[in-house]
Amino acid sequence: MRLSNPLLTAALLSPATGQLHQLAKQAGLLYFGAATDTPYQRERAPYPESYPQYDAILRDPNEFGQTTPTNGQKWLFIEPEPRLFNFTEGDYVADLAQETGKLLRCHALVWHSQLAPWVESTNWTAEALTSAITRHIRAVAGYYRGRCYAWDVVNEALDEDGTYRKSIFYNVLGEDYIKLAFRVAAEVDPAAKLYYNDYGIERPNSNKTAGAKRLVKMLKDAGVRIDGVGMQAHLHADNHPSAEDLIQTSKGYAELVKEVAFTELDVRIKMPVNDTKLEWQKEGYQKVVTACVKVKACVGITIWDFYDPFSWVPHVFEGQGASLLWFEDFSKHPAYDGMVQTFKKLIAQQSCKKKRRGVTGVGN
Ligand code: XIL
Repeated sequence: MRLSNPLLTAALLSPATGQLHQLAKQAGLLYFGAATDTPYQRERAPYPESYPQYDAILRDPNEFGQTTPTNGQKWLFIEPEPRLFNFTEGDYVADLAQETGKLLRCHALVWHSQLAPWVESTNWTAEALTSAITRHIRAVAGYYRGRCYAWDVVNEALDEDGTYRKSIFYNVLGEDYIKLAFRVAAEVDPAAKLYYNDYGIERPNSNKTAGAKRLVKMLKDAGVRIDGVGMQAHLHADNHPSAEDLIQTSKGYAELVKEVAFTELDVRIKMPVNDTKLEWQKEGYQKVVTACVKVKACVGITIWDFYDPFSWVPHVFEGQGASLLWFEDFSKHPAYDGMVQTFKKLIAQQSCKKKRRGVTGVGN
């Protein structure tokens, strides 16, 4: 038998047993997705022997209906020198999305981190930085025009207390850089949904959540288009927001923008792993599923990769890890079945409601 078709190869390696995207759709979401990085790079570099099994899961359209490049479209990699653009890494994930019929969330146009060193080290005038940002967005969003379901236009512009982060962008341009980024993105790729994306904005009453709402209002007051708020949702197994909190927060954003999404979900564990912590983790994942399904404006959930060895968590948060759904040996965390159960329960509740409405004739 010839195995030249990569999709066929993937299907044979692992019979299409994926369920998450399939169930998410049935529950009314647009997608359940997983972000991914370029092979042989960063966290993926030490594990090439796991790629065939990894790819079979990633490519399964019933498991993941959406993907995001975890790194490939960031300024550091895509415009490493002024006017020198390298789309190789971004293209890897964009092409994979196209081949496997997944929606692509594009990430991230303006961000203080993983910024090209030349942007950080230049002594900018306001005018020169305005042109550099404009040129960057025109080139990158222009290159991917029509392929991104959504763009994270500005990422992590807020400090923990909800005030603006004092990034190079803010220090030179103030909040005008945020307006500029959204204006240019809207001009370049009118069909992409334009998102503000941040972490720690998942709880309804935090200063940072208030800051995110202020930021959105600021754009709207200036007549600048913003379509969505992305809650990264890098959560902790031993302390995560309740489903009610996530619902309240999402609804709060939905009063201001058309859509919200959970864009970088992972639930980290203080190592070592044990059954209790895996149970807490499962609850964290389930709460996000419940919240997204129950809030009409929530379009989908993206996990920040799915295979523990490829996760960013242990590299950044000492002593923490196992934050995703597949262990190193490709067995699944309890959180996987936990989410499957939650989706099924919510789907059953929805069809009961529909039936009841049908019988009583009360529809809305
Ligand atoms: C992470 C990547 O996953 C890592 O590979 C990289 O080394 C650091 O960045 N918030 C974001 C993401 O918006 O882009 C970050 O991704 C995780 C935190």
